Amino acid sequence: MEADIQEILLSEEKLKKRISELGAKISEDYSGKCPILIGILKGSGIFLADLMREITIPMEIDFLKASSYGSTAQSCGVVDLKSDLSMTVKGRSVILVEDIVDTGNTLKFLLERFSTLGANDVKVCSLLDKPERREQSVEADYVGFEIPNEFVVGYGLDFAQKYRNLPYIGILKREIYQ
Ligand code: IMP
Ligand code: MG
Repeated sequence: MEADIQEILLSEEKLKKRISELGAKISEDYSGKCPILIGILKGSGIFLADLMREITIPMEIDFLKASSYGSTAQSCGVVDLKSDLSMTVKGRSVILVEDIVDTGNTLKFLLERFSTLGANDVKVCSLLDKPERREQSVEADYVGFEIPNEFVVGYGLDFAQKYRNLPYIGILKREIYQ
């Protein structure tokens, strides 16, 4: 796997430090509340696991599986929701936890869906943001890192389902996906 990585963009140390800052900020902003963090699978699994342990207020978790990618490095723009929530979000504070906001198609779809479910408020926490690629005018409320327009893998993010287990975020060599 290592040989397929062109450059380490975000080291384990950098990720840990920033995620602890995000956890502290969320704990402060939601003080006195009990938000539901909803992980958007599969990419956000590792991020959610680390983020929730940096949150010091009561909270709950749930998961959704949504994807706009097949096994290529290009978004097809169509979002597929593969499983639905197991708990009700009516009247609750919801934080959608994403791995990356790229074109914004996934986020736009999810935000539209959540607006019909009667949540009290819905915010988005994304580990990564690739603003150059945006096709929809949606933004995350909490962002770990803004990154350049490169295809990245590791720490939950995949290419054709591989590389999610790398402990850092690295830029994938172009010859692997082109
Ligand atoms: P969007 O709908 O284009 O914003 O894409 C969101 C999803 O595409 C993310 O949740 C990722 O699963 C995937 N994605 C976008 N950019 C990358 C990348 O650089 N590496 C791996 N997955 C990515
Ligand atoms: Mg994803």
